[in-house]
Amino acid sequence: MDRRKALKIGALGALAAATTLSASEYKEEKTDVYGKYREGIKNREKYKKDSKNPTKGQLKHTPDIKIGPKDTNGYTLVEITLGQEGIIHPSTDNHWIDFIELNADGKLVARTLFEPGKAMGYAAYKVKLDGVKKLTAVAGCNIHGIWENTITLK
Ligand SMILES: [Fe+2]
Repeated sequence: MDRRKALKIGALGALAAATTLSASEYKEEKTDVYGKYREGIKNREKYKKDSKNPTKGQLKHTPDIKIGPKDTNGYTLVEITLGQEGIIHPSTDNHWIDFIELNADGKLVARTLFEPGKAMGYAAYKVKLDGVKKLTAVAGCNIHGIWENTITLK
């Protein structure tokens, strides 16, 4: 076998190995979306903010939903921030907002995962809201559990 052909076969073998490894990693990522951070997720209980007299902790963990403009393709900007009234949830290696979801009339339309210590609890999506009556944002704090907020659209 000449050197050029051997290099070509070697390169194809390396490519096949890399493809197999990537597919395996991808599959693992799909079955365990938290990956190496799973051990850091300590609380999946659901909590609710006291609507009349919320505590600072409740405001910090309840997602705030802001509706922005509708673009020319019919998608409306929806911004979700943690938390409310200017009380921002921290993002450190041990305490962070690990996910945000957006549901339109009870159906999931978007989900974002966050890297601890590197990304804050904020997400923005462009969503078709024609006919949608309620938007619900759901957020998870790895320590303080799952919080949601629902707004009614006009
Ligand atoms: Fe928290």
